[in-house]
Amino acid sequence: MFDFCGVKLRSRIFLAPLAGFSDAGFRAVAESFGAGLMYTEMVSAKGLCYLNPGTAALIYRESDAPCAVQLFGSDPEFMKRAAADGRLKDFPIIDINMGCPVKKVFSNGDGSALMARPELIEQVVRATAEGSGRPVTVKLRAGIEEGHPCVRECALAAVRGGAAAVTVHPRYREQMYGGHADHAVTASVKEALAVPVVANGDITDAESYFEVRRITHADAFMLGRGALGRPWLFDVLGRLDALSDDEIYTEDGAVREDASAYADELMRNAASHFDTADAVKRHVNILLKILPERTVANVMKLHLCHYAKNTPHAKAVRLAAARISGVEDVFAVVNEFLS
Ligand SMILES: Cc1cc2nc3c(=O)[nH]c(=O)nc-3n(C[C@H](O)[C@H](O)[C@H](O)COP(=O)(O)O)c2cc1C
Repeated sequence: MFDFCGVKLRSRIFLAPLAGFSDAGFRAVAESFGAGLMYTEMVSAKGLCYLNPGTAALIYRESDAPCAVQLFGSDPEFMKRAAADGRLKDFPIIDINMGCPVKKVFSNGDGSALMARPELIEQVVRATAEGSGRPVTVKLRAGIEEGHPCVRECALAAVRGGAAAVTVHPRYREQMYGGHADHAVTASVKEALAVPVVANGDITDAESYFEVRRITHADAFMLGRGALGRPWLFDVLGRLDALSDDEIYTEDGAVREDASAYADELMRNAASHFDTADAVKRHVNILLKILPERTVANVMKLHLCHYAKNTPHAKAVRLAAARISGVEDVFAVVNEFLS
């Protein structure tokens, strides 16, 4: 077990907050493949305070597996009230979104817009920690404008406010999700902080995990898009994470041949033994407890396209998914193309 902000976790490989994807069903699937910590989709602090109807499904927990709830907002009072909300009491960690690049969020001063205001970051973290009485973590980007990293300054401000850990997705807001994650930036944050740093961005397989680990020396690793359709990656990377640096890298930082061969074998085995139908069934059954069937079917359409990625049926699944209207259709697509 490993300690992260006072919470005991079985793995340093985390599932990222992913709006539209890291729902309670997918979190349960990720957990079953060994993800050490899962994050909810981002939840509006104001929405929580105003009892927005959509919020309940976002904060539903199927089990007591370690899960952080991610809030977004920039008003310290609302963040404090939201963090104190009894409906969040079972989440051992509160994470604050300081990376969302979407215009609607950014123009309200939330998400990555906070990175222009380190003094406000400090206040927001302090207020959230006061409200929750629990560890508060933040998730940052490299900065707002490309080529102008400000993440170190923002991370230090968050720590002054009481942040217990920092996740770095080292892309700029301007890049949205394009270009590539520059993990030299993550490494510079790791050097500057005494609290744990979680590396996130473009970890999609064993090779990229080895690379990010070598560059950043991070305390944990967070998978977003790479885990979609491939939740078994948590198991593979968890096993590789158990290897020591000496077992993985040569003295000049290259990956040893035997580590690479072991990784290839784990990846091949995990992919070939993955039971898509079983994962989809579990996912759907959890979502049906919290969402109307039509919404569940819509959520699953996107997941099915990810499950089909890199299979010969990718296009056929995309076409079939477009016609899905209920969960029976979801299972029909799985049975026809993904079993
Ligand atoms: C569809 C989608 C939804 C996302 N939703 C969130 C979110 O709710 N909160 C957040 O902090 N980041 C969110 N992100 C960013 C991811 O958590 C992650 O930082 C980013 O995708 C980089 O990691 P990856 O390369 O492993 O995907 C989202 C990304 C995508 C693609």
